Amino acid sequence: MCGIVGYTGAQNAKEILLEGLKKLEYRGYDSAGLALVHPGTLKVVKGTGEINKLEEKINGDGKDSFAGIGHTRWATHGRPTDENAHPHYSCCQNFAIVHNGIIENYQQLRQWLEGEGHKFRSETDTEILAHLVEHYYQGELVEAVRQAVSFVEGSYAMVAVAAGEGDHLVCARKDSPLVIGLGEEENFIASDIPALLAHTRRVYILEDEEMASVTSSGVQLFNLQGDSVSREVFEVKWDAVEAERGGYPHFMLKEIMEQPTAVRETLRGRVDAQTGEVSLSELKLSSKEIESLAKIHIVACGTAYHAGVVGRYAFEKMLKIPVEVELASEFRYREPLLSPHDLVIVISQSGETADTLAALRLAKQQGVKVLAITNVVGSTVSREADDVIFTWAGPEIAVASTKAYLTQLVVLYLLSIGFAFIRQTGEEETFATYGRSLLDIPDKIDQILETKSLQKMQDYAAKLAGSENAFFIGRNLDFAVAMEGSLKLKEISYIHAEAYAAGELKHGTLALITSGVPVIALATQEHVLEKTISNVQEVKARDGDILIVTLKGNEQVENHAQQVYYLPEIEDLLAPLLAAVPLQLISYYAAETRGCPIDKPRNLAKSVTVE
Ligand code: AGP
Repeated sequence: MCGIVGYTGAQNAKEILLEGLKKLEYRGYDSAGLALVHPGTLKVVKGTGEINKLEEKINGDGKDSFAGIGHTRWATHGRPTDENAHPHYSCCQNFAIVHNGIIENYQQLRQWLEGEGHKFRSETDTEILAHLVEHYYQGELVEAVRQAVSFVEGSYAMVAVAAGEGDHLVCARKDSPLVIGLGEEENFIASDIPALLAHTRRVYILEDEEMASVTSSGVQLFNLQGDSVSREVFEVKWDAVEAERGGYPHFMLKEIMEQPTAVRETLRGRVDAQTGEVSLSELKLSSKEIESLAKIHIVACGTAYHAGVVGRYAFEKMLKIPVEVELASEFRYREPLLSPHDLVIVISQSGETADTLAALRLAKQQGVKVLAITNVVGSTVSREADDVIFTWAGPEIAVASTKAYLTQLVVLYLLSIGFAFIRQTGEEETFATYGRSLLDIPDKIDQILETKSLQKMQDYAAKLAGSENAFFIGRNLDFAVAMEGSLKLKEISYIHAEAYAAGELKHGTLALITSGVPVIALATQEHVLEKTISNVQEVKARDGDILIVTLKGNEQVENHAQQVYYLPEIEDLLAPLLAAVPLQLISYYAAETRGCPIDKPRNLAKSVTVE
């Protein structure tokens, strides 16, 4: 998730573009760049670091440019380096491109273009767009861009400029957002509205598979077949701060609502929709190494650790090998017993958490392979691990992790299914069914995020907000999700919450259940549903105030709780991908009711880089 901008008009393009990029830095901030149009030439200035570093680099240049494009990066393909920063040039340097998205077939297209004599400067997927436009340019930038994107599989929001086309910008989008800001004798392009608000509130929101030709005097919209399309002007009502949060009151709610897209992007190009087969081609781990795996150690902190607990169930069920899940701060001082055929999987959204990093280094010292699951390309964990697989959640700004957690679950399921196919530890059709069901998850999360469902969460949370204690219970995978639910509630609402294996309650904690104490019971696992119901009855017998979160089809739980929330149907093994969402929402709305500083809770940091 990068931020892209474009400007054409009478004002100094450099200033407008830099200002717009600053407003989009929440979308990515590892490198940035501009391409400024000058008569007959383009000037590209780019490099690693934040926008103000780019500003210093440009210094006095670009005063006489009235059109250009800009980019702030969230690396996906190719680490944050000067060469990999956008904009990317064509061979002749007459075309420059900025892009947000993932081009899945970029390696095939690169080989073909290199065969045609094109020379590449970067490791990115994006650069192929600049060479494709150059390849198809016959004097018309719109047609060249239309041809270029017709070859692309994946997601893109891109803007192109050409040395010979003056103040003309051409943009196109598929599965990544793009808006066009309408000014007086000037027009703007951006990934998101915050970059435009200082100049206009009148925008065109480009739909999927549409493109636009933008000059200072006008904007024309087309579909990818080249036919003109018309569009209502959207009048933006948000203020600048609201806009950065996409109109949401907090980044946390925005990131909860972004989960369908984050899951879709993390699945992109990794599951075959027909066969359900999982491709792990990005891994360096060989099939031989995967076949000879004896044991897996999952090591992480906080929410990432909770993702690991879910991962354990998936790996053990699919691979039939022992899996241990460890808190990194404990792992590093426990002198863990590791053997050469073990695999250590470290999970970290930021890729910078000190304890997780130390655990990674300890495992490597003992000669054990380390596979990292992280959300930040170029992070220390991604660079030091032997192998890495990225979650494509995009930048996560709120301290409380939500979309990163869900995409960590997705990657753990992908690994367990992919390894199972390679180790042939069961019916291929079973694994394929799980693969295909993963592709249904984004739509099922959409159902949970529908207004009626949100209202149900809000109503329950308004009541919960009045309590100082709460309990989350569950068995098996539900216990793993209960852990994450209680952490979310604790860290943003300051309500003291505990997660318990439901069968453990009667061994002590039941003493804390008195009339009205809120208990959230997760009951999505068929094979322990009856057992979980009997534990809920233990709570009911002490007048606990019970909410059951279960799957549609489990209506037999109805009479055992004050409230029941039904999730869309899904295989039990994949239920955590749905069950976590209402718990995130309940925590969010309870914290909102209590007036807590949701995005920046007291005493916490987004990335804990100290021991
Ligand atoms: C979760 O909401 C917290 N922000 C925290 O527990 C976090 O998960 C933990 O610090 C690990 O961070 P990481 O994934 O960046 O390593």
